[in-house]
Amino acid sequence: MATYSSRNPAHFDDVVTEFSLATSADVLAACEAAHAAQAGWAAVPAPFRGRVIAQVGRLFEANKEALSRLVTREMGKVYAEALGDVQEVIDTCDFFLGEGRRLYGQTVPSEMPDKQLFTFRMPVGTAMIITAGNFPAAVPSWYIVPALVTGNTIVWKPAEQTAAIAQAMAEIFYAGGVPRDVLKVVVADGPATYDGLEAALQKKLVQKIGFTGSTEVGRRLSELAGRHLQSPCLELGGKNPMVVMPDADIDLVVEGALFAGFGTAGQRCTSLGTLWVHRDIYDQVRERFVHAVENAAVGDPFEVVLYGPMIDEKYLLNHEKNLGLIQDHQTVYGSTGIGRITSHNPRAGFVGDPDAGWFAHPTIVDGVRPGDALYDTETFGPLVTMGVFDTLDEAIELANGHGYGLSCAIYTSDPKSVWRFRQGISAGMVSVNNSTSGAEAHLPFGGNGLSGNGSRQSGIWVLDQFTRWQSMNWDYSGKLQKAQMDVAELPFDPGFRL
Ligand code: UN1
Repeated sequence: MATYSSRNPAHFDDVVTEFSLATSADVLAACEAAHAAQAGWAAVPAPFRGRVIAQVGRLFEANKEALSRLVTREMGKVYAEALGDVQEVIDTCDFFLGEGRRLYGQTVPSEMPDKQLFTFRMPVGTAMIITAGNFPAAVPSWYIVPALVTGNTIVWKPAEQTAAIAQAMAEIFYAGGVPRDVLKVVVADGPATYDGLEAALQKKLVQKIGFTGSTEVGRRLSELAGRHLQSPCLELGGKNPMVVMPDADIDLVVEGALFAGFGTAGQRCTSLGTLWVHRDIYDQVRERFVHAVENAAVGDPFEVVLYGPMIDEKYLLNHEKNLGLIQDHQTVYGSTGIGRITSHNPRAGFVGDPDAGWFAHPTIVDGVRPGDALYDTETFGPLVTMGVFDTLDEAIELANGHGYGLSCAIYTSDPKSVWRFRQGISAGMVSVNNSTSGAEAHLPFGGNGLSGNGSRQSGIWVLDQFTRWQSMNWDYSGKLQKAQMDVAELPFDPGFRL
């Protein structure tokens, strides 16, 4: 059995946890247990399931600092962001604790007398939730919390790199009153997860797949789900554009682009991809953005820095691969080197010991245009591309042209530009004078095209992922009344004219 060591990416001598990776048989067994527990959990009255969510939320609040420290230690995001990651779990619990007392259906009039129509939300069944390491607390909760309150059971496969966080989260759910078979956690690698899931689908143990991660893996899981006539909830990659109009507040642009591009070391699905700037202010924006990036503190995520290490070596290697896509007509700015930060490839002002972790230089690649590899590659690291446009229509075309459609932003002081941009952009989430990242936990979250299949998480919208509508008609007339046929016709005069 393969052993996995999850290490602190800022100090990789610090082993956070060591465990045996689950096999496909373990994944299948977890699905069997969760499936067996589902009817019992669905039979718990929904207001009591909501009560459990309230208790879970309180425990996340009481353990916020401890869990956030673990997030920074195991995943590497700065502590302020880790607190935000855990706060998003609390916000999600706050939102859904009341849903147990709502879960509204409708009463609908019938076309016949002595007959009534109704709708009910039914749990989907057992959900397999597969999440990435970059938001180890918030993103899993976006699936787990609404799935639980609506009466589903869950098998959660977190990223191997954040296994200790997942274990801590699961213990909080259990302490809050979630039965252990209602939420199972398995930490497996990709192939074992896929094989175990495929076997579980064949045995009809899983009715929903939720996945946050790469477009490539999302496509494979979507094919698998499709073979079983299921539609997965997918939250995939992004190449999120920020469009800067000539009337933008440039201070705000620089601040927003710095956070969107380099916060979390660029490892958010909502991270800034390309900064598209109008020609009239291009040089000014580039100069100020480059200055801000050059002077930003990078390093130990427990210190006050813009960003810490990459999640692990795999993410750093992927970033280095993307640096290989830079072309001759492009210019690189942002740091005293590119690639991994080490004592031999130093970053001015680095905070801490660069050789102890997987740190990467911030990189701005100036002069990107359609046809370039970096135009349509999701880079998922501290790499922001910049490009120029002349008209808003051109900017919208550039911002849509790569086929991703998760998040986007426009900076302008003209409402007409805002409305035209909103209408023309294909992204699921639009920011105005704000970062592409940092969505609030109660608006629909999700994307289109290469970013997802249109499913949405969060707020009331995710309820459609974890429930199915059941309609009911109840005829109490005591006779068979046939819809569309036995309906009363009221007299009307078709020839009437004034
Ligand atoms: C993700 O990167 O998968 O909007 C989620 C944001 C965060 C969530 C990101 N609230 O940036």
